[in-house]
Amino acid sequence: MEVCPVDCIHPAPDENGFRSAEMLYIDPAVCIDCGVCVAECPVDAIYPADELPESMRGYQKINADFFIGKPPTRPFPLRTVSPPGLPGAAPLRVAVVGSGPAGCYAALNLLQVGGAGCEVDIYDKLPTPWGLVRSGVAPDHPGTKGVTRLFAEMAGNRRLRFLLNVEVGLHLSTDELASHYHAVIYATGAPLARSLGIQGEDLAGSHAATEFVAWYNGHPDFADRVFDLSGTRAVVIGNGNVALDIARVLLADPAALRKTDIASHALQALCGSSIREVVLVGRRSAMHAACTTPELLALGQLQGVAVTLSPADLVLSKAEQAHLEKSHVLRAKYEIFRHYAVQPLPAAQPPSVSDKRLTFRFLESPIQLLGEARSVHGVLLGRNRVIDDASGSTTIQPTGAEQTLETGFVLRSLGYRGAPVCNLPFDRQRDVIANRSGRVTNPATGEPVPGAYVVGWIKRGPSGVIGTNKHCARETVAALLEDARSGALGRPAFGSHDIDALLALRQPEQVSWEGWRNIDRSEQFDGAQSGRPRVKLTSRTALLKAAATQRHEVEFAQ
Ligand SMILES: Cc1cc2nc3c(=O)[nH]c(=O)nc-3n(C[C@H](O)[C@H](O)[C@H](O)COP(=O)(O)OP(=O)(O)OC[C@H]3O[C@@H](n4cnc5c(N)ncnc54)[C@H](O)[C@@H]3O)c2cc1C
Ligand SMILES: NC(=O)c1ccc[n+]([C@@H]2O[C@H](COP(=O)([O-])OP(=O)(O)OC[C@H]3O[C@@H](n4cnc5c(N)ncnc54)[C@H](OP(=O)(O)O)[C@@H]3O)[C@@H](O)[C@H]2O)c1
Repeated sequence: MEVCPVDCIHPAPDENGFRSAEMLYIDPAVCIDCGVCVAECPVDAIYPADELPESMRGYQKINADFFIGKPPTRPFPLRTVSPPGLPGAAPLRVAVVGSGPAGCYAALNLLQVGGAGCEVDIYDKLPTPWGLVRSGVAPDHPGTKGVTRLFAEMAGNRRLRFLLNVEVGLHLSTDELASHYHAVIYATGAPLARSLGIQGEDLAGSHAATEFVAWYNGHPDFADRVFDLSGTRAVVIGNGNVALDIARVLLADPAALRKTDIASHALQALCGSSIREVVLVGRRSAMHAACTTPELLALGQLQGVAVTLSPADLVLSKAEQAHLEKSHVLRAKYEIFRHYAVQPLPAAQPPSVSDKRLTFRFLESPIQLLGEARSVHGVLLGRNRVIDDASGSTTIQPTGAEQTLETGFVLRSLGYRGAPVCNLPFDRQRDVIANRSGRVTNPATGEPVPGAYVVGWIKRGPSGVIGTNKHCARETVAALLEDARSGALGRPAFGSHDIDALLALRQPEQVSWEGWRNIDRSEQFDGAQSGRPRVKLTSRTALLKAAATQRHEVEFAQ
């Protein structure tokens, strides 16, 4: 329940029937099929309907029956409970910078807990909302994007506004925001890429995964990137969920991609792609692969793609064996790798034209990207071994053995990195805005910066799924409201009319919620013409034009 991004597991502790419930039920009308509860359940009790073991099929009906005759369960009900002791009759005005999951959950939580006492403005530098749900989540995961329905519902609340195409640091400074609101919550995510710091990293043909993902998802700042897909093998460094997303997109059947909301420029390029094999390189052992179990398992469903690894990569050290015995999560992942390793294909040859292959390699670190005429032509990999220490933990150590893996296309999927926002204190070691439980702090004194808060990836670093931000937001909003009650928030010098006047001067091309709805309807209308969920607009010019062009629901229905 705690991890569900759309609160579709019932009855919840504050709902009737919780105490007497024999089991919990998942509302199929609200579930976005993100798989997080499946991964998180401590007793492996949750299955997707189509993977229920024969002996448990009956539960599907029991689950569905629970919801018959009940009013539709609404995720995240917007209760209007004014918190005790919010100061004064005037509402608490809060700006949220960033409309990704973290910013949206924070706004939802403020409206839910703060009730009529709060007014919220959500800013985003893009003309479109939803952060990585639009520009990160893979196009073949349409269900996951359903979380935006929950966020869109709050736009109907008259105490909330979306102010899109407004960049803090460009159109408004953090000081200006601070003088117009009681509090500002920064939810700016982690837009940068980590780097390897090895020779050859910047050769042509070597790219950060962040750029490739933003390109195929139609982020307007990356739409003009060019990726050479003319070779047969792509090498991805890293084996987190982003690496898996990239591998699936590179190996997908173009006919399947045509049914998604992938950017049209990427669809065209991928239709002409010659890539038959994607190799995922992990520096640690299979047991430490960074991807999650449901995502790893789902690779087995890819049509026409053999998922493989060398059985030698599954040999465990003593300490690893002990860890495996203690953790059902590690065991589940290891079992899936064992299943993929049963029939490894010969690794030396690229797969035939009719087959595609996704190969995991473990205990190998990139030492250098090799190049010719400034283009990458291979990755020099150094072999590692696992070292058990006396405390039972493990580390890796280079063995000195090296091997070259030939490729003209390298994607570095090493994770994301936060960027500083104007003059807010930045923790350069963790690449987050310096904070304690969501309160921005001055690193020199440890004191909170009055009225400044953080949430999401810019608060915790770039890890966690969409639902993780829900709890992160709860913590930040609780801190903010506690400060409001204790009188720690100053009264802003200016009001809402003043910020509107300032914005009219600084960013006349600001996009409102209605502007985004025009973009949304336009994209969906174009998608409906070609059997796709939407055709994304990928340039700011096209987005702003669509925002300014009134589109009606009736037009869409035609
Ligand atoms: C490639 C990828 C795929 C993923 N797929 C999944 C998935 O399938 N399922 C899942 O559960 N999780 C997935 N995740 C994780 C999930 O996307 C993150 O947990 C979540 O997006 C983090 O939320 P956030 O709001 O902190 O950051 P973001 O989603 O990055 O949102 C930050 C927002 O802030 C805006 N912004 C930044 N700077 C400024 C500024 N100066 N002024 C105004 N606005 C600004 C940005 O435009 C953006 O909209 C994925 C992550 C990645 C990277
Ligand atoms: N479907 C989904 O639910 C979904 C999809 C995409 C992303 N996400 C979430 O988004 C977050 C970010 O995902 P991510 O894949 O970008 O990051 P990640 O999970 O942190 O994976 C990063 C990978 O890069 C490797 N790496 C880092 N530095 C390296 C170096 N110098 N040399 C070699 N390898 C290096 C890591 O190896 P080590 O482990 O050895 O450090 C790891 O394999 C995660 O929490 C993820 O679950 C979720």
